[in-house]
Amino acid sequence: MAPLLRASGRVGPLAWEPDLHAEALETHDGRSPMRPSEIRRRVLADHEELRDRLNRIERLAHRARAPHGPSPSGLRGEAEALLDRLAIHMHWEDRYLIPVLREADGWGEVRVDRFARDHREQRELLEYVLRELHDPRRPEGVVAGKVLDLVALLREDMAEEESAFLGQRLLRDDPVAIDLFTS
Ligand SMILES: [Fe+2]
Ligand SMILES: [Fe+2]
Repeated sequence: MAPLLRASGRVGPLAWEPDLHAEALETHDGRSPMRPSEIRRRVLADHEELRDRLNRIERLAHRARAPHGPSPSGLRGEAEALLDRLAIHMHWEDRYLIPVLREADGWGEVRVDRFARDHREQRELLEYVLRELHDPRRPEGVVAGKVLDLVALLREDMAEEESAFLGQRLLRDDPVAIDLFTS
């Protein structure tokens, strides 16, 4: 975690309750349950959409920091929308990805503990950044700096999540059959 954000320390209980629309948590088209490969694809697609948002917000934040550049309105609003979207994404992962991570192999519980810890830390970070965004005393340039730190951390977190929890072999639909052919 970047020093700027780590230095803030832990924040208290979450005051931030994102609007978890039922439709945002829709899983599939009536079939049940989702297969591990479908869950994997859904999470990876979400990550791509989140990366697009990060690119957009990064551009806005750079403009906000430029000494003589235009002061872009909307950085705080874009960042808040990103935090809401992330909260929904993480909620979806907690609900659908955790159960398949638990069942994937003999290391399921260890993996889920690590996954849950990562999400706990990310939520603390998001809560902290949200408070900064809402603080009217923070100049736009300072907010932009924190948003840029956040963007870098989120990119890192998503890459780590993909390598530790979203591998094709880990989230395969038929582990026994595949093992027979690959071992
Ligand atoms: Fe996650
Ligand atoms: Fe994720």
